[in-house]
Amino acid sequence: MQKIIIATTNQGKVKEISELIGSEKIELVMLSTIAPGWEIEETGLTFEENSFIKAKAVFERFEIPVIADDSGLCVDCLGGKPGVYSARYAGYGASAAERNIKLLNAVAKFDPPYYARFICSTTFISNDGIKVFEGILEGMITREQAGTNGFGYDPIFIPEGFTTTLASLSAIEKNRVSHRGRALRKLQEYLIELSLI
Ligand code: IMP
Repeated sequence: MQKIIIATTNQGKVKEISELIGSEKIELVMLSTIAPGWEIEETGLTFEENSFIKAKAVFERFEIPVIADDSGLCVDCLGGKPGVYSARYAGYGASAAERNIKLLNAVAKFDPPYYARFICSTTFISNDGIKVFEGILEGMITREQAGTNGFGYDPIFIPEGFTTTLASLSAIEKNRVSHRGRALRKLQEYLIELSLI
């Protein structure tokens, strides 16, 4: 069975990637399993650069096809922040709830609506080459956290066309509209082309 490494330690992302790409033909291997404790530094200034940095580091080390995701939330009234710093927005070690509170306080200084978007860049590297796929989800920031599903900023983000937060949607509903879902469906088509899945 073809092994594909998922180059992330974020369990929320791992779950969504497995739900979207999982197939009987491939074995998805977590980075934490194959290289425990290995954190790849995200030194890029864009989502695309960071997903490429992670995928390249893993492919060079293991020479096994790899999927890397870099994603985050860009808020218009904050000049696109937290952007590539989404995971570190309230410092290393802060919880998702703490990051959400920090972001709600930051936008509260502006007049609503707080337009924002999630962006996901997914890089896939194999012996067939390097491919990058992007997905975007437009929406807005709420005034308070709502919902318990998903992860990260989901409790404070209302996707365009919805009246509730991403954290109030089921996993299937989120995957249907999300930035990651959009990027991964493009990857899925490519993996089908390569007969990998
Ligand atoms: P990184 O891509 O591992 O650098 O982290 C991206 C960060 O962006 C995550 O830790 C979350 O805080 C946030 N993020 C990315 N995708 C999502 C999502 O689908 N829902 C909520 N937060 C997300």
